[in-house]
Amino acid sequence: MQERLQELQDEAVKQVADADTLQELEEVRVRYLGKKGPITEVMKSMGRLSKEERPAVGAKANEVRGRVQELIEEKEQTLREAAVTKQLEEERIDVTLPGRPVSKGAGHPLTSVVETIEDVFTGMGFQVAEGPEVETDYYNFESLNLPKHHPARDMQDTFFVTSDLLLRTQTSPVQTRTMEQHEGKGPVKIICPGKVYRRDEDDATHSHQFMQIEGLVVDEGIRMSDLKGIFEAFVKSYFGEDREIRLRPSFFPFTEPSAELDISCAMCGGSGCRTCKGTGWIEVLGSGMVHPNVLRMGGFDPEKYSGFAFGMGVERFAMLKYGIDDIRHFYTNDTRFLEQFTRV
Ligand code: DAH
Repeated sequence: MQERLQELQDEAVKQVADADTLQELEEVRVRYLGKKGPITEVMKSMGRLSKEERPAVGAKANEVRGRVQELIEEKEQTLREAAVTKQLEEERIDVTLPGRPVSKGAGHPLTSVVETIEDVFTGMGFQVAEGPEVETDYYNFESLNLPKHHPARDMQDTFFVTSDLLLRTQTSPVQTRTMEQHEGKGPVKIICPGKVYRRDEDDATHSHQFMQIEGLVVDEGIRMSDLKGIFEAFVKSYFGEDREIRLRPSFFPFTEPSAELDISCAMCGGSGCRTCKGTGWIEVLGSGMVHPNVLRMGGFDPEKYSGFAFGMGVERFAMLKYGIDDIRHFYTNDTRFLEQFTRV
């Protein structure tokens, strides 16, 4: 019987050594040390032995059992450590590898320009107004002193939705909408940035969709000198203190008199170059004193109130400030172009 026990121990030692996983080791444990295992069997059958034999066999059985148990525990420890080491190895992070670049977005240059211009005007007490992009013929044209069949309508080739609904060709309709809200009482002092649409062929200086910022001031005693003062402050703030301005007579149906605003050319400082076509001046916006008909249609009494208005192209302001040579860059969303404005 002692030999049988020794055999069992040798077998178990081998199987423990062969167990490669905790699972296999557990199977070995159950097989040798479990209630139905051979060692337990031997112990149970000891009753059949003679008194003399019993102590020696009992001691041997205990020894074998203890030895096998010990070996299993040792092996278990080894396997557990190996599993942890393997896991650490597999999940190792190389902190010295370069990170994946995260591309950071930024405001679109047109948005930045609008915000900059809004800041200048709100600083002078203007409020920011809005109006719809799908507009009625009345607000886009008629209320601005452009009755049906007026030839000046041709200057703004229009996308019509129905015979009476259109995509606004200018932000000027917000003038009438704002005046209506004021119900004939001044002061009105707003700017309105927004998208406008025209049936133009796209090229370096034209786009069928672009942005404008409209301005309107209506109150008692507003004069052309007020317009000029606001322009002077705006141009110096947006383009720089060294810029000069001049007003040049022009025509718009909704203003009388009308004027175009020029700024001195930054390229040549006024002496004449290619950018300013040799004139030393660059045209930047249209403006004028609000026509009495427009005041009246907005619900204001032209005997009591006067005002000035202006409208500028946002793309043009951006192009002049940053030296951009093609309006289409704003709408093709080439990231190589846009990335240049992340810090503007
Ligand atoms: N709406 C004009 C345009 O799109 C620009 C303009 C000129 C607006 C004179 C005005 C203004 O308010 O007074 O060409």
